[in-house]
Amino acid sequence: MNEQVKELWGHELEWIKDKDLMEKVADTWALALKKSILKPEDLKKIPFTLLAGTDLKVSFMDHKRAVVHIAKAAGEKMNEFFKDELPVNMDVLLAGAILADVGKLLEYEIKDGKSIQGKYGHYLRHPFSGVSLAEQCGIPPEVCHIIAAHAGEGDQVKRTVEAYVVHHSDFMTFLPFKERLK
Ligand SMILES: [Fe+2]
Repeated sequence: MNEQVKELWGHELEWIKDKDLMEKVADTWALALKKSILKPEDLKKIPFTLLAGTDLKVSFMDHKRAVVHIAKAAGEKMNEFFKDELPVNMDVLLAGAILADVGKLLEYEIKDGKSIQGKYGHYLRHPFSGVSLAEQCGIPPEVCHIIAAHAGEGDQVKRTVEAYVVHHSDFMTFLPFKERLK
């Protein structure tokens, strides 16, 4: 596995039982890092969203990892309580959660030391660029579906249970930063 990917996602990637899928998820992150102007150090520094004001201190990596950990806990609890009534495929869920925002690496440009949305991101938001990167690395469609449907655009399509879990894990940890009753 690429050293940069291992540094960012080594711990969470180990949770994926299907090692072929795990490698493809790692490859997708490696491809994104190769194409991006951002380095792993930047991902630990830049704010996770450009939509929650300029004071936000939660980094891109802290937020992405939180989403993966919350999605894992949620999926495990759903399997425990709902069993065969609503089975959650944990490998698909984890791969989708780790890859949901991989396309964001192509959205950013650094200008005057600050991260801003670049031209590519202006035309192609990360659910689209994320699927493009993932398909180049052989990620299966049930995982690409999670990337495609994790954000607002996904409200237009029918989501799998795994995509619902990732969507809500992402939004419950984003919306209160953007706007909340205090
Ligand atoms: Fe996203």
